[in-house]
Amino acid sequence: MNTHSYARWFRDSTPYISAHRNKTFVVLLGGDAVAHANLTNIVHDLALLNVLGVRLVVVHGAREQINASLEVRSFHRHGELSRRITDDEAMRTITGVYGQIRSNLEALFSTGLPTSPLHNTDIQLVSGNFVTAKPIGVLDGIDHQFTGLARKVHTQRINKVLDTGAIVLLSPIGYSPSGQAFNLTADELSGQVAAALRADKLIVFDAAPYLSDANGHRLSNFTPTVLDKILDTSTIQASTRQRLRALVRAVRAGVQSGQLVSYRDDGALLEELFTADGVGTQVTEQDRRLVRRAKLEDVADIVEVIRPLEDSGVLVRRSRDRLEQEIDQFFVAEVDGFVIGCCALYPVGTSVELACVAVHESYRQEGNDTGSPSVGKQLLDAAEAEARARGHSEIFALTTQTHDWFLEHGFEDADIADLPTPKQALYNYHRNSKVLRKKLRS
Ligand SMILES: CC(C)(COP(=O)(O)OP(=O)(O)OC[C@H]1O[C@@H](n2cnc3c(N)ncnc32)[C@H](O)[C@@H]1OP(=O)(O)O)[C@@H](O)C(=O)NCCC(=O)NCCS
Repeated sequence: MNTHSYARWFRDSTPYISAHRNKTFVVLLGGDAVAHANLTNIVHDLALLNVLGVRLVVVHGAREQINASLEVRSFHRHGELSRRITDDEAMRTITGVYGQIRSNLEALFSTGLPTSPLHNTDIQLVSGNFVTAKPIGVLDGIDHQFTGLARKVHTQRINKVLDTGAIVLLSPIGYSPSGQAFNLTADELSGQVAAALRADKLIVFDAAPYLSDANGHRLSNFTPTVLDKILDTSTIQASTRQRLRALVRAVRAGVQSGQLVSYRDDGALLEELFTADGVGTQVTEQDRRLVRRAKLEDVADIVEVIRPLEDSGVLVRRSRDRLEQEIDQFFVAEVDGFVIGCCALYPVGTSVELACVAVHESYRQEGNDTGSPSVGKQLLDAAEAEARARGHSEIFALTTQTHDWFLEHGFEDADIADLPTPKQALYNYHRNSKVLRKKLRS
């Protein structure tokens, strides 16, 4: 990345940095992620989130490491979920493995060498008895012994630690009131912790970078209902399925969004969280898109959307001051609280001009994937509804490069002479824009 693109990337991430501050993210690092060579980079990225004010709870797994340490491995599949049968001896081994992983992670978060990104940062990890567990008992006739289920997540204790700025690190282990430790499934635990904390995100690291369609194209966003149906029929790897199910359950239980990201790809977490289109697969219950009237606070985001188009001459340049003065004329389209498009409606005499229609590059062609109207179409609908509400029967637009898009959305060619008189006087013959107008049905 050269200096210019680095500066641009950093600048572009500003809205995400403020959107994520003070939010609670629960992160699942399964045993496979913990064993992967990219773990050090993931730790650095988690440390960065911590420094940026994200409240982090990290749940680690250890399936691979436990399998390597046990001579006899015994699992029982109930439905989709395959759980380990944990006898007394296995439990002793497992607690040792968890201790080792915790200590490895503590060491990684503590690295302070000048060559490390964590140099001069002071990250604190806190582990403890944050989960009460109960035994699974006998399932399908099989005694699961020390394999358990989380019974209560002590959210107050966790929040107290998070309030201090520390990261909470949870092993998949819980304690019964009688003092017995039970082995839990990390995937399940991460979902339960996220739900109990009413976390803003549950992020699961997986070998798969995202869920893809039959052509290998990334499927970036699902509601829990749609994803559940897809998981019923798809042939994806069992561990990925299990993690996606955990995301579905967590979102249904009130977590705002669930994200699957790759533990293999360096920086996948940051790209997922700090770029408009992300790189993983997201599960969210919300209607992510919304077109609304713009507010003064949107000016910086509108600038981000329109500047590249102004630079390339597609849109007429507007200064920040002008945008601030005209903000009441603007509509914005947002996704998950981020502005991704805008348009403006200017009254001119007795008519009204539609201008500054722009959609962030990453969100063009969106309608094609989802079957819903494109972002540009939604902005146009909102502007037309407003024009009608103000009593206008016609709307006009000037364009140099988007003529066909307007035609496809019901506009017709018109002449300069058809423009309202004040606009005719201002017409820029050097720019030579095409004039279009559209009759608005009442
Ligand atoms: C024009 C714009 C707002 C439309 O956004 P959108 O409707 O959300 O999404 P898309 O860009 O996917 O466009 C939808 C369709 O219109 C077509 N389209 C987009 N821009 C076009 C253009 N300049 N000329 C002809 N067709 C265009 C797309 O190819 C697409 O067609 P398809 O569905 O058959 O593939 C968006 O493309 C944009 O921001 N463009 C740059 C800014 C611009 O030109 N603004 C108008 C200034 S007057």
